[in-house]
Amino acid sequence: MTGGREEAPAFGSIGEIEQRFAAQGYIADRMLATTLFLSVSLGKPLFLEGEPGVGKTEIAKVMARALDTELIRLQCYEGLDSNAALYEWNYTRQLLELRLQEARGVDRAEIGDNLFSEAFLLQRPLLKALRSEGRRPPVLLIDEVDRSDEEFEAFLLEVLSDFQITIPEIGTLRAHHTPFVVLTSNRTREVHDALKRRCLYHWIDYPTFAREVTILRARLPQVELRLAGQVCRFMELLREHDFYKRPGIAETIDWARALMALGVAELNAAAVDETLGCILKYRGDNEKLYQMGLTGLVEKALMPGHDPSATGQPAA
Ligand SMILES: Nc1ncnc2c1ncn2[C@@H]1O[C@H](COP(=O)(O)OP(=O)(O)OP(=O)(O)O)[C@@H](O)[C@H]1O
Ligand SMILES: [Mg+2]
Repeated sequence: MTGGREEAPAFGSIGEIEQRFAAQGYIADRMLATTLFLSVSLGKPLFLEGEPGVGKTEIAKVMARALDTELIRLQCYEGLDSNAALYEWNYTRQLLELRLQEARGVDRAEIGDNLFSEAFLLQRPLLKALRSEGRRPPVLLIDEVDRSDEEFEAFLLEVLSDFQITIPEIGTLRAHHTPFVVLTSNRTREVHDALKRRCLYHWIDYPTFAREVTILRARLPQVELRLAGQVCRFMELLREHDFYKRPGIAETIDWARALMALGVAELNAAAVDETLGCILKYRGDNEKLYQMGLTGLVEKALMPGHDPSATGQPAA
């Protein structure tokens, strides 16, 4: 591997990560900040697993902003292959070059000699990350890796082991510098141990009540502390139940935004009913909530004892 991390360390301390992430509106708990610090310091990919909407993808985005470097994203899906992830030949450009050479009268024997060189490659995210020449290594986000096929996972394992790739027509291309790699998974299937072993693992859970209030106020500073507390308490209660899809932090933020747009200052059953589409996204889940008794849950959320101003959390 060329390059390396000889330049100033990306983050000086775990506390610095917490601060720089908070400055970007991301509230990282100590464990996450520690894993991030180690991932960056040791040059090991970070593997993030967790329920949908708990902030996995956002970490890579915030990391790139905090490090002031480029974010390169590879979105995984079923059927994703190495061509779409790594490189393709730029046929149009090759053809154009061929025509130009013909027009220039290049010797027949030499025509097209240079067509399979790096200049004629279309870089896809993995190659782009490997060949990035920025001041700092880029952040490479390999998002939702559980959606890709096992075959692709094996290929990924190879790339992440060596940070180099071999293109038959060119040879081996090494990384200019090792990218900061973040992989995410929603755990729709188990990702192989071999891939996980290459990485530092972190499970992102739903936040505690106090942390979610802090997150909500960081993302939506206009929200009143009182309403923020009621919304987060309602979400906390909801997540105690076994819904097909429990709401994540993304839903909390959306919902609070919707309530504010409707001028709701205090949670009530009618307002929850009207805005349920922000929280639950499956008809069966809606029905389940009605069966459980929406009014009772709202009353519970409004019970004293969950005053966010008493949590000691800064209002970010
Ligand atoms: N700790 C946090 N601090 C600030 N914002 C957060 C935090 N966690 C989540 N969010 C916000 O929640 C939203 C959802 O985050 P994100 O899209 O990263 O979730 P995800 O885990 O990748 O979800 P999915 O699995 O559906 O892709 C984003 O708007 C993000 O900013
Ligand atoms: Mg995501």
